[in-house]
Amino acid sequence: MNGSFFYYSHCYINKSLGNKMLLLVLLVLSVSTLASETCPHECYYEAETVCNRYNDPVKCKLSPTSNSAVVCCHLTADEISNVLSSPYNFTKTKIQQLHLRNVTAKTFKIEWLNQWRPCSLAVTDGHIDEVKGQFPKTARSPCLNFSSNAILRFDNASLKYVRDLEKLDLSNNSLSHIPSMRLGINLTLDISENKALQYDNLIDTMKRYNITFVNANKTTCLLLLDTSTWLNKTESVSLTEVEHYYELKKNCTLENCSCEAYRWDFIRPEATLTMMVDCSGKQLTALPSPLPANTIALNISNNNITSLDAIRDDPSYGNLRELYADHNHIEGILPLLDSTKFIGSFVALSLRYNKLKTVPMHFLSNIFDRNDNFRYLNLGQNKLECDCNAAKVLKLSMWATVTSYK
Ligand SMILES: *[C@@H]1O[C@H](CO)[C@@H](O)[C@H](O)[C@H]1NC(C)=O
Ligand SMILES: *[C@@H]1O[C@H](CO)[C@@H](O)[C@H](O)[C@H]1NC(C)=O
Ligand SMILES: *[C@@H]1O[C@H](CO)[C@@H](O)[C@H](O)[C@H]1NC(C)=O
Ligand SMILES: *[C@@H]1O[C@H](CO)[C@@H](O)[C@H](O)[C@H]1NC(C)=O
Ligand SMILES: *[C@@H]1O[C@H](CO)[C@@H](O)[C@H](O)[C@H]1NC(C)=O
Ligand SMILES: *[C@@H]1O[C@H](CO)[C@@H](O)[C@H](O)[C@H]1NC(C)=O
Ligand SMILES: *[C@@H]1O[C@H](CO)[C@@H](O)[C@H](O)[C@H]1NC(C)=O
Ligand SMILES: *[C@@H]1O[C@H](CO)[C@@H](O)[C@H](O)[C@H]1NC(C)=O
Ligand SMILES: *[C@@H]1O[C@H](CO)[C@@H](O)[C@H](O)[C@H]1NC(C)=O
Ligand SMILES: *[C@@H]1O[C@H](CO)[C@@H](O)[C@H](O)[C@H]1NC(C)=O
Ligand SMILES: *[C@@H]1O[C@H](CO)[C@@H](O)[C@H](O)[C@H]1NC(C)=O
Ligand SMILES: *[C@@H]1O[C@H](CO)[C@@H](O)[C@H](O)[C@H]1NC(C)=O
Repeated sequence: MNGSFFYYSHCYINKSLGNKMLLLVLLVLSVSTLASETCPHECYYEAETVCNRYNDPVKCKLSPTSNSAVVCCHLTADEISNVLSSPYNFTKTKIQQLHLRNVTAKTFKIEWLNQWRPCSLAVTDGHIDEVKGQFPKTARSPCLNFSSNAILRFDNASLKYVRDLEKLDLSNNSLSHIPSMRLGINLTLDISENKALQYDNLIDTMKRYNITFVNANKTTCLLLLDTSTWLNKTESVSLTEVEHYYELKKNCTLENCSCEAYRWDFIRPEATLTMMVDCSGKQLTALPSPLPANTIALNISNNNITSLDAIRDDPSYGNLRELYADHNHIEGILPLLDSTKFIGSFVALSLRYNKLKTVPMHFLSNIFDRNDNFRYLNLGQNKLECDCNAAKVLKLSMWATVTSYK
């Protein structure tokens, strides 16, 4: 009801300027109505064809399809402040939808919009390095669109007070961070085609707000892999993988252990992120269990572990291919021999500084007779009883590092 009343008053003002008293009353009513309930929810933007040529002095015009929408085109930093603050033959605060197309400015300042109160604001298809400043506490904007400007930075506090934000389009920019918003909002977010988006920031955003992603399959972020080795590298990870990885991490409830993305597993049909579980130096006396799904690497060095039985007995160890267990009290590797999966597929096994006494011959020859795999084995600093056959086998692989003390 308030909505139609507003529209009535709007037409009335345009067509009849007779009764000033009534006009004033209606104006006050319409402004307060606008501020509360009449914000349209649609996002507004115009195609390039609506714009005048970039050298035309007339930059802004009413939309050809709506008299509450304005589009301004080809504004540079020098012009924009003047153009947006000039007087027009419409009332700016009554313009509900504003599209600034092809703005060229190093810094886009939110304060440029001070005289405007658009419900839908689109600033698109331009060249902007950063967006600075904060929408005022009175801002009610169901739709904000900053798509395709090559934006590098968006003031984290910009959108903090925007009430009623429903749709936010930041697609096709170069953002590493999504700005923060009012807590608890339901948001439709398009953050696709931002190649520098950081994993931590994306996850924080997903935790803080209830987000429905648009163009989810074109949404990626950068994730740091292999942090536990010298191989640190960031990789672009799809939203689907991000959600999967986040759940894997959430499922990792092992006390005293950290679970991190490790590397891609290309063996499965679709590349999958695998995990490294690190429980080193935590006074553990037994192997941690259960390992999160997709764990291929486990570091349990510097603990008081005596037995590797779990690798054979615990199904969650089924994907394990790298075990780092230096500085423990492990006495034998027989359980590993029964666990054919690990022995058949491991790429690294490090058991330095343990209490191993013998290493069965067939174990070593099994490993090094196969030359299909890069394998790392280090049994150094154990009181191994060496035998000559073993020594011969070991020469077969230049990658193997097997040190033994007589
Ligand atoms: C934002 O603007 C772009 C034009 O650059 C348009 O393609 C997109 O649909 C707009 N987003 C929304 C939510 O309207
Ligand atoms: C954008 O505006 C600039 C000047 O402000 C102009 O040089 C450029 O051609 C415009 N781009 C398009 C696609 O119109
Ligand atoms: C003022 O508005 C009328 C229609 O409402 C339009 O035809 C005219 O071009 C406008 N003038 C300016 C300077 O924008
Ligand atoms: C993305 O932005 C670039 C400029 O930053 C533009 O050339 C390209 O057309 C945009 N892509 C889409 C799909 O809008
Ligand atoms: C943005 O602000 C929120 C809280 O308002 C904070 O938690 C977050 O770390 C900030 N992000 C950046 C990139 O500064
Ligand atoms: C989010 O959506 C749910 C379900 O539609 C609704 O109950 C809740 O109030 C909404 N939250 C906000 C902040 O609008
Ligand atoms: C999240 O938002 C969607 C769409 O607005 C809504 O259907 C859903 O109920 C919301 N969930 C919560 C927990 O608010
Ligand atoms: C992305 O998703 C949309 C709709 O879900 C689908 O139509 C489109 O084919 C997908 N694109 C790719 C590259 O998977
Ligand atoms: C790898 O990344 C981790 C986590 O950011 C960091 O602590 C470590 O120093 C990095 N290592 C190298 C060699 O850059
Ligand atoms: C996380 O744990 C739940 C409950 O155990 C399970 O249903 C889900 O598949 C697990 N998620 C992943 C990604 O392994
Ligand atoms: C985790 O570490 C704390 C402090 O070192 C220790 O008290 C606790 O027993 C450990 N938990 C497990 C499951 O080993
Ligand atoms: C672990 O072993 C060290 C000696 O190697 C000992 O001092 C420590 O008390 C042991 N801790 C546990 C929890 O068994």
